Amino acid sequence: MAKIARDQLDSFLHDGDQAIWSTAALVVALQAVASETHQAAALAVLSASGLDGVTGLGDRDGLASQAAAPIHQVGALLRGEGHMWTTQSDEALLAQGRASAQGAAGFAQFGLPMLTGLQEAFATGARMLDVGTGVAAMAVAYAELFPGLTVVGIDVMPRVLAMAERTVAESSVSDRIILREQDVSSLDDPETYVLAWLPAPFIPEAALGPGVLRVVDALQPGGWLMLGHGKYGGSVMNDAIGRFKTVTYGGTALSDEQAEEMLRSAGLLEVRTVPTPEGAPAITVGRKPTRA
Ligand SMILES: C[S@@+](CC[C@H](N)C(=O)[O-])C[C@H]1O[C@@H](n2cnc3c(N)ncnc32)[C@H](O)[C@@H]1O
Repeated sequence: MAKIARDQLDSFLHDGDQAIWSTAALVVALQAVASETHQAAALAVLSASGLDGVTGLGDRDGLASQAAAPIHQVGALLRGEGHMWTTQSDEALLAQGRASAQGAAGFAQFGLPMLTGLQEAFATGARMLDVGTGVAAMAVAYAELFPGLTVVGIDVMPRVLAMAERTVAESSVSDRIILREQDVSSLDDPETYVLAWLPAPFIPEAALGPGVLRVVDALQPGGWLMLGHGKYGGSVMNDAIGRFKTVTYGGTALSDEQAEEMLRSAGLLEVRTVPTPEGAPAITVGRKPTRA
């Protein structure tokens, strides 16, 4: 019995070691700043993983950040710095921000066309709310993709907002991004936004419940709320890791059903959880009723 447990543990550790090092090899290969020997060794790992050619894909920086984000986060957690989002290092915040910015292109391709009325609204100088704007990488990505859009980003962490100011100043869309230190549960912008993004895994439960109501109040009639949350109900391992991450960040774990119930009871219509790619958060959407 003890022997089986030890073998299982050895195999678990081996798989974990390979997963972490091959992800690090992906980051090194995509960043392409290592020495020639180091780069060749990283590429050999990718080749052994069947990922030849991955460095030829577009948006290498975005992919590198997506791969690096969990490594930075667990590094911080194990150093005793990463419990709760507020204690993450600058690197981890930047990597997570760039990773979240990748969602903007998917939204343009799949999300926007399926949300009634939003395409027209986006074309005519609309406002979007980005709750938990972090380093504002996602806010910048949305503003860059949609030239008629102004993004208002709110966050509770002064340190990330200072980083966000720099991201925005270095972008070409600084005239269309507004940053504010504010808790979502005290938002007071009635009927302002056509779209709001609210990432439950990073928002504590005590702020999320009241926050959803404040965000709904802040939507224009016919406006949409996108509630990001974990994906549960797949494998036991996937569910357990999703909850572990959310607890680590101090956020709220919601299943599809709980997210849908939250939006329905806040008075939203057309509530549904939409399909998202593997690795992306689940997204439940709901629309504020239009005026009769
Ligand atoms: C993962 S980060 C967002 C990443 C972001 N999309 C970017 O581009 O950097 C989540 C953010 O939510 C913020 N947050 C947590 N609780 C909040 C609350 N109650 N109101 C507003 N923001 C909050 C955290 O401070 C953190 O910066």
